[in-house]
Amino acid sequence: MDAPLRSTTSLLQILVSFFLLLFLGLNMFREVESLGINYGQVANNLPPPEKVLQLLNALKITKARIYDTNPQVLTTFANTNIELIVTVENQMLATLGDQQQALQWVSSHIRPYFPATNITGIAVGNEIFTDEDTSLMTYLVPAMVNIHAALVKTGLSQYIQVSSPNSLAVLANSYPPSAGNFRSDLSDIMQQFLQFLATNKSPFWINAYPYFAYKDNPNKISLDYVLFNSNQGMVDPYTRLHYDNMLYAQVDAAIFAISRMGFNGLEVKISETGWPSKGDSNEVGATLQNAAIYNRNILRRQLLNEGTPLRPNVRLDIYVFALFNEDMKPGPTSERNYGLFQPDGTMAYNVGLLSTTSTTTSNSEPSSASVSLASSAPPMVKRVGYQSLVHWMMMMMMFVYICWLCKC
Ligand SMILES: *[C@@H]1O[C@H](CO)[C@@H](O)[C@H](O)[C@H]1NC(C)=O
Repeated sequence: MDAPLRSTTSLLQILVSFFLLLFLGLNMFREVESLGINYGQVANNLPPPEKVLQLLNALKITKARIYDTNPQVLTTFANTNIELIVTVENQMLATLGDQQQALQWVSSHIRPYFPATNITGIAVGNEIFTDEDTSLMTYLVPAMVNIHAALVKTGLSQYIQVSSPNSLAVLANSYPPSAGNFRSDLSDIMQQFLQFLATNKSPFWINAYPYFAYKDNPNKISLDYVLFNSNQGMVDPYTRLHYDNMLYAQVDAAIFAISRMGFNGLEVKISETGWPSKGDSNEVGATLQNAAIYNRNILRRQLLNEGTPLRPNVRLDIYVFALFNEDMKPGPTSERNYGLFQPDGTMAYNVGLLSTTSTTTSNSEPSSASVSLASSAPPMVKRVGYQSLVHWMMMMMMFVYICWLCKC
């Protein structure tokens, strides 16, 4: 072999290895991503956790959040591929201001189930900053500090993140996104809260519902913009970033608000978003059709592993609210109709989770199709089987190729 030919060969080798590595990397990256779902249980007619597990498997969902530490759920989800976020109920916060109590809580509610049950996060309360009971706020950070300390003590802190989901109403401004800032009356306590998250590398969780903005202002706000349908969107006049949907704009507003408090690197994740399929007559936009479109579009965008315009390369993690309609929720009709599923396991509407190839947006009719809670495994098995086969073949090729390189 003469010299010029040899250098062409090594260039080729470098190129081939580059693309092989890229392909492998992408393949592995894709495999772990999943939509998250909120498994709320304020209802008296929900299926037992075993059935719910089958449903999640059929839907290929591997991330779920519950609103308590229900031992039945924790036990059922053991030795499965489900990652679980659990919740400290709001009424526990005051008690957890005591270090010993927090240790006791972790020892009895978390320790016995981990690692068989893959608990990856603890939500300390829910929407504390906007709760009617304003005294809860003062208990929040001490409770988080104590829970975290208890996790350190029990050796779990590197596996389980501690945070607390906030309502978007913690922001005084969210439009345009670059004007995002926190309510001034929250600034002292928000400073401590963000400091905790930054110190422990925990994410900032936001419950964001573009539906509320639309309902309050249906004449001013474009339905297509809030539903992720194609529309002209808006450009933030300061950053010049283009937004084609309200949800991403809300997330970026939160990122700006956090930055204004001096915390630049915090990750922002959506702990809840959703759309009601039914509402009272004054709840504009709460329809089956809109709910189907919103959730379908969220799913479609999640499959792209997208980030927001401000952080295009950081995949935005989203937990949809909710798995089931919950008949015992108080408040307006919409509150009981956020579910992708009816309690009996039939779809409230077809989101496309069972046929992820469908990407239609508008004009698609809500389907009356139903999924049987009892027959669920095949889709999951098929997908995983295919992916690991591809993965295995790539590994083999890589191995053969490296052998070949070494011989040269
Ligand atoms: C639990 O979930 C985390 C986060 O995705 C993952 O890294 C880990 O491997 C999982 N643990 C088990 C035992 O499956």
